[in-house]
Amino acid sequence: MDALAVAAVLLLALRAAVCVDAAAAANVDIGRGVDVLQRFGIIGDVLYGDVSNTKESVTHDIIDGADRFTEVLNVTKNHTNLLNITFCPDLDCLFDVYFDGFQVDLTDKPWKLLTTSRSRHIVSERFGVPDIAMGFGQKFVIVSFRRPVKRIKTFDNFTQVAELKSTISDKFKCMSIGIESMVTDFITEHGSHYIDEYTLGDTVFQVLVYLPVFYNKFYKCVLNNCSESDTVLLLSPLYTEYQGHVMSVGSNAVEKWVDTNLQVESKLGQSYISLYALKNRPELCNEIVALMDEQSVVGLHLKVVSTFLAEPIKRKWFTEVLDNHVKLREVNL
Ligand SMILES: *[C@@H]1O[C@H](CO)[C@@H](O)[C@H](O)[C@H]1NC(C)=O
Ligand SMILES: *[C@@H]1O[C@H](CO)[C@@H](O)[C@H](O)[C@H]1NC(C)=O
Ligand SMILES: *[C@@H]1O[C@H](CO)[C@@H](O)[C@H](O)[C@H]1NC(C)=O
Ligand SMILES: *[C@@H]1O[C@H](CO)[C@@H](O)[C@H](O)[C@H]1NC(C)=O
Ligand SMILES: *[C@@H]1O[C@H](CO)[C@@H](O)[C@H](O)[C@H]1NC(C)=O
Repeated sequence: MDALAVAAVLLLALRAAVCVDAAAAANVDIGRGVDVLQRFGIIGDVLYGDVSNTKESVTHDIIDGADRFTEVLNVTKNHTNLLNITFCPDLDCLFDVYFDGFQVDLTDKPWKLLTTSRSRHIVSERFGVPDIAMGFGQKFVIVSFRRPVKRIKTFDNFTQVAELKSTISDKFKCMSIGIESMVTDFITEHGSHYIDEYTLGDTVFQVLVYLPVFYNKFYKCVLNNCSESDTVLLLSPLYTEYQGHVMSVGSNAVEKWVDTNLQVESKLGQSYISLYALKNRPELCNEIVALMDEQSVVGLHLKVVSTFLAEPIKRKWFTEVLDNHVKLREVNL
């Protein structure tokens, strides 16, 4: 599938993502196997919507009764200090920040496995900024309002207490070291990784595009304890090349609310939408929180499935083969 087709699928799903219920979120479930090589991404699936109806093709049932070794943590934080400003000197950084909560063992940049290519089109649609603002040499500032709600994770002793289904561990036993196709076939069928934990909630963000000169000015200001009024000024259209749309990972309602509630006037009388207008406004924070989704997957940790292999030599070999394939994919993207 080419990059644009992928983007189209993802964006279609994104619009269908409003209020995924708890059962739908279960397509992402503890202990399920995921092939990070084959699919352009469980990360994309979970980020961009309800894929409950494709559960079997996305994740695989590989561990018996994993829910017995699972705990749910309440990670809801106070609304008032969830607002954050992040400086991004390039596009890679923008992805790093966006996929901050996503960890895939054997890769530092899991979003590369998802995005397959960073066509400007994908980037701009995903980040709420038009193609044209993504030109070479632009810098970015991300204002984000992250609200994780629930973290579902395995017990720390998961790999000791949980076991692979017997049909699956039998396949491991039959594997001969040196025959790479046995590893790749296994991965295609059952997954390369398993879901060790995931976080549900929502993130609202706005990407601002700067020329390097103003980006540097802003960055210096922050390093030198920028005042509130200078921060507001540097976030205004007086300094930005482009003000991105305020986007929510899981809620269309937020995007509508923002248009009427986060309007700000610049010094030149120009009106614009700023997510930063939430700063020190607890009543607005409460309103936006009420509209935010609580069921979007905003974080995920995938660990290698070979952790469950009893034989150390086979485990090492399987992991090496997988690692090579992951690296190969990354350099070819
Ligand atoms: C989670 O924590 C928040 C904030 O401390 C609290 O308001 C909420 O009731 C808790 N929810 C559950 C299910 O414990
Ligand atoms: C949340 O905020 C309230 C007041 O705004 C404060 O009393 C409380 O200690 C805060 N809780 C946490 C967990 O920070
Ligand atoms: C804000 O962003 C910084 C850097 O990305 C991060 O270390 C920090 O935890 C974030 N704070 C919140 C409240 O998200
Ligand atoms: C594994 O961890 C869980 C939760 O921490 C604990 O209840 C259980 O007894 C542990 N099991 C073993 C075999 O250590
Ligand atoms: C930063 O500025 C604020 C007020 O603008 C002041 O209260 C605070 O002490 C300053 N902090 C540092 C580390 O200079």
